Amino acid sequence: MDAKANGTRWWHGATLYQVYVRSWRDTDADGYGDLPGVIAGLDYLQWLGIDGIWLSPTMPSPDQDWGYDVSDYLAVHPELGTLADMDKLIAEAGQRGIKVVLDLVPNHTSSAHAWFADARSGRDSVHRGYYVWADPVTGESEGGMGRRAGGGAPPNNWRDATGASAWTVDDASGQYYLHNFLPGQPDLNWWDPRVHEEFREIIRFWFDRGIAGFRIDVAHGLYKDAQFRDNPPLAGGTRLDGGFGLRPVYSSHQQETHAVYREWRKIADSYTPQRLLLGETWMGDLGKLASYYGQNDELDLAFNFPFVFAEFDAGALAGVVDRTLAALPAGASPVWMASNHDISRFPTRWAGGDERKARLALLILATLPGTTTFYYGDEIAMTDVAVPKELRKDPMTPGVAGGVGRDAERTPMQWDASPSAGFTAGGVTPWLPFGDNAARNVAAQREDPGSTLRLFRDLLALRRTAFAGQVAAYERLPAPPGVWSYRSGPLQVTANFTDHPMPLPGRVGEVLLRTSPGAEPGAAVGPWEGLVSKMP
Ligand code: GLC
Repeated sequence: MDAKANGTRWWHGATLYQVYVRSWRDTDADGYGDLPGVIAGLDYLQWLGIDGIWLSPTMPSPDQDWGYDVSDYLAVHPELGTLADMDKLIAEAGQRGIKVVLDLVPNHTSSAHAWFADARSGRDSVHRGYYVWADPVTGESEGGMGRRAGGGAPPNNWRDATGASAWTVDDASGQYYLHNFLPGQPDLNWWDPRVHEEFREIIRFWFDRGIAGFRIDVAHGLYKDAQFRDNPPLAGGTRLDGGFGLRPVYSSHQQETHAVYREWRKIADSYTPQRLLLGETWMGDLGKLASYYGQNDELDLAFNFPFVFAEFDAGALAGVVDRTLAALPAGASPVWMASNHDISRFPTRWAGGDERKARLALLILATLPGTTTFYYGDEIAMTDVAVPKELRKDPMTPGVAGGVGRDAERTPMQWDASPSAGFTAGGVTPWLPFGDNAARNVAAQREDPGSTLRLFRDLLALRRTAFAGQVAAYERLPAPPGVWSYRSGPLQVTANFTDHPMPLPGRVGEVLLRTSPGAEPGAAVGPWEGLVSKMP
């Protein structure tokens, strides 16, 4: 293992925690969580044993896509706080040994960004080239999605995240602009060197303020095919391979994108400590995912969606882990997670509300090598919340998760059993409805030594001691079908993914932790139980 890569990077062996800021804690009684709320929760995160937080977008935005439509990259969203709040958050987190990672959205801006306002003011405007423009197709278009008023069809068959054409006509110039997400999120044109320069400045601006890195939105997206070729049909495949019947091989995944990360990596590595580049790499092919690590000179970490969408099954999960570790360059750290703001929470998706399964999943996430990432609420096994249609807030609903949208996994943190869930002031309507906070909340679980929250905290303590800032060596151990057994650094994990007790495979050392409260020490691992022991 590359000595420089291992041990010197703060995310190796670390635990990250995603704070969806709007749903974490509301300190000004407007129904939205905010940065002072994140500061107020730092003692809790320190008690949990978190090494770093990734904040969902904090920059000014008209919120057509809840911050993923940025209108100013060098400021803080007024609903969430001020730049002074951000500075205070970075400082206060630092005092508690917690790093702060921000969300960066380089694939597109908001249509309200000053660059786009100028770009659409005319074909000769200074910023026109910052975005992707194309003339209408006037002849027969194979892939066009119907003609538009004024004549001419969209330039090709690319579709946006809702399934509509990814091209919207700009009436003033008669040209189309590209948006892989909503029309309010025009894609940037990475073929223009000025866009590179803008982002180098943005990155340095935040690194200089003391943030510890970026989670990079749609990291595989930046460049688009220069010839705008039609995307080919999707035959089979999963939601990671494409959507709406198409494989997005020309509208994203271009080779040129890698050079952007090589450039950013040099910037990130020039800081002390080195800053983290963590990509949202939404793809099913692990070889391709690994390519975003380059030769350890591109992204430091690339999110692993095949792991997220694997069945909750010993063979399926172990298989993804094996294939991931085989694909990554030597010295690279994998990164694991199971819930985020775009995906159904794992206590629902994997565990179907079964606490034993959720606890087993937490054990797996906490003992895999590399970096692990939790989503707020994972620690209390918070489940998805059924949000009635009239209260839904996700504009991407038509194209996402069969039309139900992503609100179910974005509801306010369940701090306590009070009517305001400890999230906001009494009587304030939260931006999204509360789940069953009386049944499941931080305050009650903190008091209960057998709770999932306390198990989570014990797991993180174990992880920290065992991994000590290293990417642990991983080895799959022989086990009967339905049981996943592995060595991760000094730890041996035995995870029973069946409804029956299973004999412990082979020898195990001293048992350090098991997920069933009050389990008898013995030669078996219970149904849906996980057990961590020392390597014999
Ligand atoms: C990413 C974000 C998602 C957002 C999209 C467009 O996938 O995680 O929330 O809607 O990018 O920015």
